[in-house]
Amino acid sequence: MPKKKDDSPKTLSEKEAKQLIDKLSVEIRHHQYLYYVKNEPKISDFDFDQMFRRLQDLEEAFPDLKDPASPTLVVGSDLDKDFEKFQHKLPVLSLINTYNDEELLDWVNKTDPEGLYSVEWKIDGASIVLYYENGMLQNGVTRGSGGIGDDVTDNIRTIRNIPLRLPEPITIYLRGEVFMTFKDFEEFNELSSGKYANPRNLSAGSIKQKNSADTAKRPLRIFTYDATFPDIAKKFRTHQEILTKLDKLTFPVPPDTVFVTGSKMAKTIQDFKKKKEKLGFPTDGLVVKLNDVSKRDALGYTSHSPRWARAYKFDAVMKESKIVDITYAVGRTGKITPRAEIEPVSLAGTTVTFATLHNQDYIDELGVGIGAVVRVAKRGEIIPAVEEVVTPGKDVFKIPDRCPSCKTKTIKKEGLVDLFCPNPDCPDRVKNGIIFYCQRKQMDIEGLGDKQIEFLYDHDYIKSVADLYDLKDKKEKLMEEEGFGEKSVAIILGGIEQSKQKDFRFVLPSIGLPELGHKVTELLIEHGIDSMDEILAISKDKNRIDSLLEIPGIGPSTVLAFQENFSDKRILKLIDRLKKAGLKMKADPVKVADQQPFAGQSWCVTGSFENFQPRDKAMDLIVYYGGRKVSAVSSKTTHLLAGPGAGSKLEKANELGIAVYDENQFLELLKSHKIDFKNPK
Ligand code: IVH
Repeated sequence: MPKKKDDSPKTLSEKEAKQLIDKLSVEIRHHQYLYYVKNEPKISDFDFDQMFRRLQDLEEAFPDLKDPASPTLVVGSDLDKDFEKFQHKLPVLSLINTYNDEELLDWVNKTDPEGLYSVEWKIDGASIVLYYENGMLQNGVTRGSGGIGDDVTDNIRTIRNIPLRLPEPITIYLRGEVFMTFKDFEEFNELSSGKYANPRNLSAGSIKQKNSADTAKRPLRIFTYDATFPDIAKKFRTHQEILTKLDKLTFPVPPDTVFVTGSKMAKTIQDFKKKKEKLGFPTDGLVVKLNDVSKRDALGYTSHSPRWARAYKFDAVMKESKIVDITYAVGRTGKITPRAEIEPVSLAGTTVTFATLHNQDYIDELGVGIGAVVRVAKRGEIIPAVEEVVTPGKDVFKIPDRCPSCKTKTIKKEGLVDLFCPNPDCPDRVKNGIIFYCQRKQMDIEGLGDKQIEFLYDHDYIKSVADLYDLKDKKEKLMEEEGFGEKSVAIILGGIEQSKQKDFRFVLPSIGLPELGHKVTELLIEHGIDSMDEILAISKDKNRIDSLLEIPGIGPSTVLAFQENFSDKRILKLIDRLKKAGLKMKADPVKVADQQPFAGQSWCVTGSFENFQPRDKAMDLIVYYGGRKVSAVSSKTTHLLAGPGAGSKLEKANELGIAVYDENQFLELLKSHKIDFKNPK
């Protein structure tokens, strides 16, 4: 949209600029609140972006007028730094766990059977403490040891639903959980080639980014669930009043919280369990808190936890066991995951002999070492984890600074808590890379499981994925190996041969390059970058590399990885070998119909449909009949197919005057072209 001349910051006096900055800041904060806290946006993303950019422009033109709590500050800074330690102003306590109704009710009955309790979601993210002085966010601090935490204020400021300034000049210390919705996690992880195990780990890593501009890119949110008001002691009589106050102060509080007495507790827990399936954010249980503040004070605290609250852990099939050793797995990206070898216990139907310890931070937080008695649990994920320490064992375990597989010195990667092996020839990395390549979701090579690949690598049959295509020359020798009979070798070689038919859409992500997963591959192909030659040509031209940023969904870290990947001689050599082996290096053309009524049109699809489930079916049809599919609405989009649940894309389409079709209108359109959507010809 062209700017009106008198709109330019340069034509404004300082006074006018100040007024405009104040007005825009208030409006932006209000819309951020409606969007991130209330979930009820009143304006389109497009309008919001315009307003935001306008404020940024003004602040750039009048730097002295910039408010320290400006909403534009959430973009983050590029400065790297170590975190300062912060002495908490109150002890940051944790909760005593209960694992079933009986344990919880037992506690309720012993504590205050008639009393009122809040029951709220226990959010599974990263614990954070926010300190506001006179209504301004001063510090955001990790829980740390409970006494001292890391000051991660710059990162916390980038979280969109954390208010930087409160509607009143109040001093308040709050506790909350930084988390990511499942949807946001999946989208972000997809763009990061699936390198994050779960939303909790990603959230925890995100608030510890050294560069706040990186935190700003992550779709983090917060729920606050507890607060103290050092200046206005005794004002709030109940937890309910505190939560209401937080809501008034524009803090997001967990949804669904109820207040019940002991007699309703069991039913309430059942109700929450039913709701859990549909919940959009990760939770690992409930927190039950006595509502009355004076009763809380009377009960007091143990050294670590309040006596007036309990966590109720869901699906807590927890078993106690002893850590006999701690070993590591080195993944294809080099990430080193420590895991505890434990005395075998049966857990949810399987015998568990090891449990993950995630990373050094997690080990430190638990304070765990070899010999510790621990509780292990299977969460939603497949791999069991050490969850709690019963007795700590020997010294807190320290991951050695050399890769357990190849002994190379390990490194820490910017903003990640994990340690990495940097050696691309590390045997475990290479093996896991080949395992990844052969997986069903990737090249889907039959007959090659983890064990076979490990054997082939250890016995020098294959040292890279390209070697798979020379394996046929060693057929006779291979058939002499134990476990590789004629039949299984035929299956393996057949599977490898078959993989040459796999579309480039699979070849590219299977190579396992950082940031180049299925989603980015699709985006590239969608924008006409549909062959390896094209990719390599772009990688040699700085301007063309930068222009990748214009593709919605591709950000700077992907572009950087793109540049690094395709200038790496080893990778180029591997690609060359795969090409020579006969793999497809150009995306298969999408099948097209004889008639092309959608030729020249660019369609975006959003919302859900009765006749097209999943909605990709509608997209396939459009492409089959000559249209182009796009994943985001832009000025180049010509049509939007919008079903119920359409959100910002619909608003943006209306904004840009793009033709919008609902399902019935789309069916009519198909009919007018004599297209039978159930039977396309
Ligand atoms: S209340 C003194 N409420 O669970 C009271 N904690 O195991 C402190 N958590 O460190 C906590 N959701 O990080 C409380 N609704 C909730 C919570 C919650 C998640 C986390 C929090 C805490 C841990 C305790």
